Amino acid sequence: MEKKKYYIENYGCQMNISDSEIVCSILDNEGFIQTDLIQNANIILINTCSIREKSEKKILLRINQIKYLKNYKKNLIIGILGCMAEIFKKKFFKINKIVNLILGPDSYRELPFLIKKILNQNGKYINTYFYNNETYSDIIPKRKKEKITAFVTIMRGCDNMCTFCVVPFTRGREKSRDPISILKECEFLFQKGFKEIILLGQNVDSYFWYGGGLKKNFNKFSLKNNTIINFPKLLELVAKTVPFMRIRFWTSNPNQITLNVLNVMKKYKNICKHIHLPVQSGSNKILSLMNRKYSREEYILLINQIYKILPNCSISCDIITGFCNESEKDHNETLNLMNYVKYNFSYMFIYSPRKLTYAFKKFNDNVSLTIKKRRLTEIINLQRKHSYYRLKKSIGKIQEILIEGISKKSINYFYGRNSGNDIVIFNKKNSKIGNLIKVKINNCTSATLIGEIF
Ligand code: 5AD
Ligand code: SF4
Repeated sequence: MEKKKYYIENYGCQMNISDSEIVCSILDNEGFIQTDLIQNANIILINTCSIREKSEKKILLRINQIKYLKNYKKNLIIGILGCMAEIFKKKFFKINKIVNLILGPDSYRELPFLIKKILNQNGKYINTYFYNNETYSDIIPKRKKEKITAFVTIMRGCDNMCTFCVVPFTRGREKSRDPISILKECEFLFQKGFKEIILLGQNVDSYFWYGGGLKKNFNKFSLKNNTIINFPKLLELVAKTVPFMRIRFWTSNPNQITLNVLNVMKKYKNICKHIHLPVQSGSNKILSLMNRKYSREEYILLINQIYKILPNCSISCDIITGFCNESEKDHNETLNLMNYVKYNFSYMFIYSPRKLTYAFKKFNDNVSLTIKKRRLTEIINLQRKHSYYRLKKSIGKIQEILIEGISKKSINYFYGRNSGNDIVIFNKKNSKIGNLIKVKINNCTSATLIGEIF
């Protein structure tokens, strides 16, 4: 049979990028061929995101847009993967008649089998079941050609149940990946010439290996190993296994990050000094409604600890504005907290009610869109000032930069990142993509550092 071509389109977070790489690897192993041209594909896969209504709307529009391709290829397979599969389930078949495959984040191994089944017998298939032991630990994701940074997923799902967040419903409960497979993959990436690893999880501090299975099912009788591996232990093992690679991790949780993580970061030069530590809100009332399990005061103590142990650590953040019952006073407390921390950068969002979540069921989305937008603008403007403040502090310093590619500004310039994850632009000279070089920082905008090779 002629080899079938697949095209995959990705939406959402880094976890989704990593999952799409797993999907490509599964399909390549079964003889399918990836194409970058949607028109050439026999199979179109859309890896979806449900985090905010905007993301879902964009994807639904996109599916409508590709409908016409079915007119040219009768046997075209269109598959919906990822978070929206878990939310819409079978409804997708109804909303959009062209869809013939729906798979949630735990069922990607079934892709080749189901595709072949549809090719041979037609039909529509769905699997949105969560499998307690599925972490795809044996699958090496198919990564992009530029071998600089690789995502390595260390855990899947989330148990935190923040009241606004749909992730626990779309990705299931927390489960950690076998550390041996993680270390093997890191070593493999080093051999292949990659320079940097980003350890990924919805909440990396919750990493907990006890032999496999859901974290919530752990009790001392289910311990299948002699020792439990937690995140600081894993981070240290990774740093030691690939001492010549840069290590990053994403996302940390203020309620679960430990001093041990900070101490391991301090001990190993190859671990980048950057922590993504979403606060979501600066108001205790809102933090409690969000079920974030920390107070503003505890968060501030944590920030102080970070700067004490890692004085040059860069801290970034996620903030949601306009959550249910958020008053002007609560909003000002967020601005006030931002003024205290002065984040290096932040991702800032308007609250978007999500079905299935506690907030959707129990609270009123009672902040008007006009107010939400105004508050968001205030937050964005303040963050811009803080980013500039932080970047300016780098001027005059010599920093180690990993070169990632050619700058959009000019072909004579490269861009790369410093340890704190800031983007740095500099004249190429004799350097090459993938080199770790010293750059003297001369200037900055509110988002980028500008320097020269030292
Ligand atoms: N509305 C707006 N932002 C959200 N996030 C998660 N759920 C929602 C929602 N319902 C944001 C949080 C989280 C980031 C990944 O997305 O800030 O940290
Ligand atoms: Fe969502 Fe909270 Fe889990 Fe992050 S920690 S994925 S915001 S439930």
